[in-house]
Amino acid sequence: MDHVVTIQDLANDDIVSVLDRARELLPVAHGDKRNDVLAGKILATCFFEPSTRTRLSFETAMHRLGGNVIGFADPSATSHLKGETLADAVRMVAGYADAIVLRHPQEGSAQLAAEISEVPVINGGDGAGQHPTQTLLDLFTIREEVGKLEGLTVGLLGDLRYGRTVHSLAAALARYDTTMHFIAPKSLAMPRRVTTELPDGWSAHAALDGILPELDLLYVTRIQKERFPDPEDYARVAGAYTISAEILRDAKPTLRILHPLPRVDEIATDVDGTDHAAYFRQAFNGVPVRMALLEMLLGSD
Ligand code: NCD
Repeated sequence: MDHVVTIQDLANDDIVSVLDRARELLPVAHGDKRNDVLAGKILATCFFEPSTRTRLSFETAMHRLGGNVIGFADPSATSHLKGETLADAVRMVAGYADAIVLRHPQEGSAQLAAEISEVPVINGGDGAGQHPTQTLLDLFTIREEVGKLEGLTVGLLGDLRYGRTVHSLAAALARYDTTMHFIAPKSLAMPRRVTTELPDGWSAHAALDGILPELDLLYVTRIQKERFPDPEDYARVAGAYTISAEILRDAKPTLRILHPLPRVDEIATDVDGTDHAAYFRQAFNGVPVRMALLEMLLGSD
């Protein structure tokens, strides 16, 4: 495995290796144990879009493994503002670092970078495309929280059109005999380019009612305001769904709720204290999972 542009770049065995290794690395992720396997290695984090969890957990992962980080979180402080192309920037950064994490508003940007870069490119989110490392930490979280990945009934709710995390996640869940329910307003339905790749076992719905009691897992997403070409279209769907503790009275006691975060209003704060809420643990899991991935990409030479 050279680049991680889409979740399809990872074979089933790669996913299992990352998840197993992430669990072993938990004490290092927590800072209770030292590991310097990436000493002397440099990771570049190039973020052309806002990020909190993805960038910081990649940086923590690298530091916890003894490596170093260069990069930027605000492209307006780089030559991007002078009109430098992404291709030129990637060519340059590939000479400075041993791997690159790229987040960019343009779908396909990570693929372009991978074609140019001499070092591994990890897609940290390309527009409404994919977010494969989020999917790895989602899978890790599901396995830790539910105990298995196989045969679950999962609801994916919210902005399934522009939300890149659900595009990668649906493709991954399809490998584990998952029954998937896509719950979204019609205008934000899961794109055909994603559903055509899925085996039978998925269905689309406008509302959560009736489906909730069946679910082992509910994956909630933010409506991706920044991707709407027309603000009026956003206004029409804003606040379309809010999961509250009251709604969850119909859920299985073992239901786990995941969210890639940030949340706006799609999960009420009264859910946070319930046994269903797994999203803050999920956010932490970005550290061990990204450690395992970085070790796999950079640790063997
Ligand atoms: C997500 C993203 O950037 O796609 N955030 C994240 O990486 N945890 C989800 C979002 O922004 O809504």
